[in-house]
Amino acid sequence: MGDHMQWSQEEEENAKKQATENSVVKVQSEDQDKYEREASKYWNEFYKTHKNNFFKDRNWLFLEFPEILPEKKRQEFKTEEISSEHAKINNDNSFPLKNGMFEEGEKYWKKYYGGGSTAVQGYAYNKNQVKALTDNPQGKTCGEELCKVESFPGCDATYRILEVGCGAGNSVFPILKVLCNTPGTFLYCCDFASGAVELVKSHSSYNSAWCSAFVHDVCDDALPYPFPDEILDVILLVFVLSTIHPDRMQGVVNRLAKLLKPGGMLLFRDYGRYDTAQLRFKKGHCLSENFYVRGDGTRVYFFTKDEVWNMFNVAGLTEVQNLVDRRLQVNRKKKVKMQRVWIQSKFQKPLLSLHNPEETSKRHPCK
Ligand SMILES: C[S@@+](CC[C@H](N)C(=O)[O-])C[C@H]1O[C@@H](n2cnc3c(N)ncnc32)[C@H](O)[C@@H]1O
Repeated sequence: MGDHMQWSQEEEENAKKQATENSVVKVQSEDQDKYEREASKYWNEFYKTHKNNFFKDRNWLFLEFPEILPEKKRQEFKTEEISSEHAKINNDNSFPLKNGMFEEGEKYWKKYYGGGSTAVQGYAYNKNQVKALTDNPQGKTCGEELCKVESFPGCDATYRILEVGCGAGNSVFPILKVLCNTPGTFLYCCDFASGAVELVKSHSSYNSAWCSAFVHDVCDDALPYPFPDEILDVILLVFVLSTIHPDRMQGVVNRLAKLLKPGGMLLFRDYGRYDTAQLRFKKGHCLSENFYVRGDGTRVYFFTKDEVWNMFNVAGLTEVQNLVDRRLQVNRKKKVKMQRVWIQSKFQKPLLSLHNPEETSKRHPCK
């Protein structure tokens, strides 16, 4: 994925003009305070209204972010295989075990993860996962008591993913369908809207042997995570940072960076500057530059890739990818063209961390 289309200078200037015009009138400060104070309430209302029918399943995840998967699994998901694998996964609500994986998976597990594992159907799993499979071979929700014997959910996994702001699970379930076929993996997902977390936990494909969904406000620094720092291989941040007040974004990114293992990866996709969604706002919805509130009280920021680079750099992460994805979407029925702009980034925690956030310069990369 890359710059699928370039904007002419004229298009860029027109977009800028439209954004300037719709930002002239700012939302009153007491209302701004309310949107910030009650942010989780507005998102809860959103999920009460839309349940899990609003966002589409993020089926592009493995194409754009193969890093979600452990290295070995990634190699199997070669680009040309992904679409057929997706088609299979999407048409099948069970958790298929791919025959070719059995023997290899077992060897891999024993070599790298030691003897605390057991083979089920020729595949290696951790203790909880074995119990989940034997108690409940259909892969349905397992009892919470499974995790109580351990000090934290997923503690005996060796590859851990956290999805921040998981909403109704549109990324969680595509990921979980693959993880349930991958030994030693575990997915955490959180959202500050308790209604969204409930939707995830009550889904028929939720499986507590592979996943832990919890209510968590990433802006609240004092709130502990249900696992220690530096244990995550991947953090997924998809269309979430844009909903957070710009003054709080850096704090959120700094905290998340601490959760990553050295070498761990933060995968980011979000709205880009002058996306159609930004230009369509009417006057009176602007909170501050490039930050708006929708009619339902939820908010959205539109990033440049330099802003994204700067935030992750300040948090001590290094760029692996940082691009603007521009696409022309055409709705033939409604006869409308939409210039979509997204930022897609991958930032890695260095293996040897020499990072001191106080000393990190705030320079832009001038790319
Ligand atoms: C636009 S939705 C995206 C949902 C999901 N990531 C997806 O791509 O389908 C933004 C989500 O971020 C959550 N969110 C916003 N601020 C948050 C915060 N401070 N802590 C945790 N979750 C938050 C919202 O509740 C909402 O579910």
